[in-house]
Amino acid sequence: MSSTIRFLMCPPDYYDVDYVINPWMEGNVHKSSRDRAVEQWHQLFHIIKEHAIVDLVKPQPGVPDMVFTANAGLVLGNNVVLSRFYHKERQGEEPFFKQWFEEQGYRVYELPKDLPFEGAGDALFDREGRWLWAGYGFRSELETHPMIARWLDIEVLSLRLMDERFYHLDTCFCPLSDGYLLYYPGAFDSYSNRLIELRVPNEKRIAIKEEDAVNFACNAVNIDHIIILNKASDELKQQLGAVGFQLIETPLTEFMKAGGAAKCLTLRVTEPIREEVHAGAAVESRVIRMEGHLLDAGLINQALDLIVEGGGSFQVLSFNLGEQRQSTSSAEVKVTAPSHDVMETLMSQLIDLGALPPPQEVCDINYEVVTQAGVAPDDFYVTTIYPTEVRVKCTWVRVQNQRMDAAIVVDEETMTAQCKLLRDLKPGDRVVVGVEGIRTIRKTESREQRNTQEFSFMGAGVSSERRVELVVEQIAWELRQIRDQRGKVVVTAGPVVIHTGGGEHLSKLIREGYVQALLGGNAIAVHDIEQALLGTSLGVDMKRGVSVRGGHRHHLKVINTIRRCGSIANAVEQGVLTSGIFYECVRHRVPFALAGSIRDDGPLPDTQMDLIKAQEEYARLIQGADLILMLSSMLHSIGVGNMTPAGVKMVCVDINPAVVTKLSDRGSIESVGVVTDVGLFLSLLVQQLNKLTSPYQIAQPV
Ligand code: ARG
Repeated sequence: MSSTIRFLMCPPDYYDVDYVINPWMEGNVHKSSRDRAVEQWHQLFHIIKEHAIVDLVKPQPGVPDMVFTANAGLVLGNNVVLSRFYHKERQGEEPFFKQWFEEQGYRVYELPKDLPFEGAGDALFDREGRWLWAGYGFRSELETHPMIARWLDIEVLSLRLMDERFYHLDTCFCPLSDGYLLYYPGAFDSYSNRLIELRVPNEKRIAIKEEDAVNFACNAVNIDHIIILNKASDELKQQLGAVGFQLIETPLTEFMKAGGAAKCLTLRVTEPIREEVHAGAAVESRVIRMEGHLLDAGLINQALDLIVEGGGSFQVLSFNLGEQRQSTSSAEVKVTAPSHDVMETLMSQLIDLGALPPPQEVCDINYEVVTQAGVAPDDFYVTTIYPTEVRVKCTWVRVQNQRMDAAIVVDEETMTAQCKLLRDLKPGDRVVVGVEGIRTIRKTESREQRNTQEFSFMGAGVSSERRVELVVEQIAWELRQIRDQRGKVVVTAGPVVIHTGGGEHLSKLIREGYVQALLGGNAIAVHDIEQALLGTSLGVDMKRGVSVRGGHRHHLKVINTIRRCGSIANAVEQGVLTSGIFYECVRHRVPFALAGSIRDDGPLPDTQMDLIKAQEEYARLIQGADLILMLSSMLHSIGVGNMTPAGVKMVCVDINPAVVTKLSDRGSIESVGVVTDVGLFLSLLVQQLNKLTSPYQIAQPV
């Protein structure tokens, strides 16, 4: 054969499945047939020999996977980047491959220790030589990509592998001649899929189905218009045939038991260099610093998980573990991301965990000026509930009105910064963009502090029924403290409070001065008043628990009555409304805000149907709260959660654990979730409060 294309192969003399390092090997240890493997390998060998030259490396005992020469290294021209295997089971192959490359006169590049890269198994040249596709996520480290780019002077495009069945790039991705690409999109994350779509035009992309993918159809050897593979579906054969490729199927079942097929068994060692192509890698690295109770509060794990889950990679440069229980730890972590965009996303999440740049790299914020009212610049920093500082003219400035999901507006003249909702932005406002010069203050508790916190027994957890009483006891104590210190408790409540018989208990809490503001929607007020006026709630008799004839009209009659009075307060004044939650609010001057919604009947005159105004009323009533009690209203409770800065205690009671989890997931000590019937909760709470004695005198109704 006259071709100058060369491949390296390794005869299967010692091949077997001896261990499990990928999902294909599971259940297949010593299950492959030696004879069949030898026969299959030779068939492949002969097919390739018809189209190219095949070099052989001497097989070695003790390293059965050495047949998979794709993992020997990555060759371009006369250079080779030697593999560093991720699993110790394969590290024994490295010296043999190294020796072979050296004997052949290649210039061998070796990666630093502990930076795994598995050669052409995870790095595939575009067949036109324009760039290198490199995989990461399982076997190869993202940080190797810039090094490879430099050594081989080529642009590297990083692709993140997500499916452990496709642990090497060549198991799910196969660049073909003429710019075609055979690949299985399901093996990649969305960022990588986007990158593939950007580089390979639609008509050149051949996306295969899972059925072909698990037959290793992408693990193919492509020589000009020939594609050699284990097996392809008729559909795929047709598809490839239609664009001029000729398929040669050759069974490789025995090697699939180790997780490899045609491509894995070969290494192309003649890859042409294109003169005009040069080094490039979108991969970026940055160093962050973290300080605090990194281990006790789980912050370091959160940070590292977030980096990996977000498509990045990390290297812990230093970790100083505080030795005493109360001493803090500090760490420096190098974060690597496949692109600038991913880096910015990771950094903003890390900032929310309290990460800082190293001191020498701290700089001022970047800002952009708002040009259209109510619209922020694209790259604006989205705030969290945590206290935040921004660096303006080399000074850290505390952000005012902290809340989540806002933009930060800075004023350099007054050296102030504040959270502003998008809709409140005005042309000329300077909005913080990017991730530079922003830090959040995460108060992390040491073990000691956490244990003495009165709310710590729950952490951010969700209670089981048998713990409810204990929780209620603690909450009662807390409410009493706040009342005695003339603090502020805000209650958000849904209509379930009434349906479950909690109305009388909540009324009592208001009467006795435990509640300083009440937030809800139209429904809780309607049902409370229906119960006060007619003894039913949505037409159900609250004493007997049965539907009253014609009862479904009750709530409309009640709405009508209050509408006639003009407001709930007027109804109390006029002696129409004489009991219930809202009666107590009016009598005890406890302000309330009712936010309307699309499903409201009426509404009551007090219900604010302008939602922007309703949000503002809520925000005003929440200000200065010490504790927020959220009673069975997902909608209003989440709304309130979004407006509330860190540091305000929250107690969320709901029968649905999902609601509780969502709301109590705000960091360790400040939120408590109680999964229980809200009527039961309120009755237990009132009982507990009765048991406590206090010198505090209840103000007489006005
Ligand atoms: N058992 C080998 C491993 O898990 C199979 C390698 C397949 N090679 C490849 N380039 N995909 O490492």
